[in-house]
Amino acid sequence: MKYRHQFHAGNFADVHKHVLLLDVLAALTRKDKGMLFVDTHAGRGEYQLHPGDAAHPGEWQSGAARLLAAAPTHDSLRRYRELLVARRHGASLFYPGSPLLAAGALRPVDRLVFFETQRDEAGQLRKALEAQSAANQAANKSVRVESSDGFAGLRALLPPAERRGCVLIDPPYEEREDFTRVSAAAIDALQRFESAVLILWLPVKLRADFDAWYDKLRGKLARPVLASLLWMHPCDSRAALNGSALVLVNPPYLVEEAVRGWLPELRASLGDDKEGSGCEVIATGPR
Ligand SMILES: C[S@@+](CC[C@H](N)C(=O)[O-])C[C@H]1O[C@@H](n2cnc3c(N)ncnc32)[C@H](O)[C@@H]1O
Repeated sequence: MKYRHQFHAGNFADVHKHVLLLDVLAALTRKDKGMLFVDTHAGRGEYQLHPGDAAHPGEWQSGAARLLAAAPTHDSLRRYRELLVARRHGASLFYPGSPLLAAGALRPVDRLVFFETQRDEAGQLRKALEAQSAANQAANKSVRVESSDGFAGLRALLPPAERRGCVLIDPPYEEREDFTRVSAAAIDALQRFESAVLILWLPVKLRADFDAWYDKLRGKLARPVLASLLWMHPCDSRAALNGSALVLVNPPYLVEEAVRGWLPELRASLGDDKEGSGCEVIATGPR
């Protein structure tokens, strides 16, 4: 595997995904009862980003750095921006990946399981989680990092003893099979545990490809689904990563309203109102 998330950390797609993740976890932690959180493709947890670092092309300059330079008004964007401000050291940013964000948002009563196949990335993740936990008195009590396949690991965890759970599925899509693996994992997870809250991230190159994938998945799910789409470049060219799609199955109460509030503001902050950028929220009830 060649994929290293360090090259993409903090880009517009990461920002989109992480703001939504925090919304979902905030909604789920309004109830006292503990839950299971699974991150099937966790990465290393923290990414040191420096401007002008030739080894790490600056995708984050058009993502996290733009949000840092903005003054967002929506609570979800402000909360996320404040987390970034706390991790800024001079011009550098210690960008928090999904595991650190989840560990910070969850409580001692919750259980967290992370999967990361690259052993060195998994090792770095353990260190980053330990460092964050040492600095936080209300640290999570049950945190596990597995250096193994997240799709297989997820199957073994569902249904959770807690009867409440949230799963982030965020593979690298270096192989096209990841698209079918993600939909198969979502269908399987809901068969084992129908109230699972699932967050699926997908890259968007051609919008038509996303729509076809989404319609096929929707046809197989009997649960409510929310899709949040953000694109920085027109979605009719195969040139690059044009857009980011988040598919949220069993969206918690009020998350749709929040996303409809912050997504246009995020697009304006990151897209600089440039031609070709856009966003859309698609909500569909159970079938
Ligand atoms: C997009 S990155 C994850 C980013 C992270 N979720 C975040 O938001 O900060 C995908 C990660 O999945 C890892 N990976 C690839 N295949 C995997 C698999 N089958 N199971 C678990 N991890 C895998 C890669 O090594 C990479 O670090």
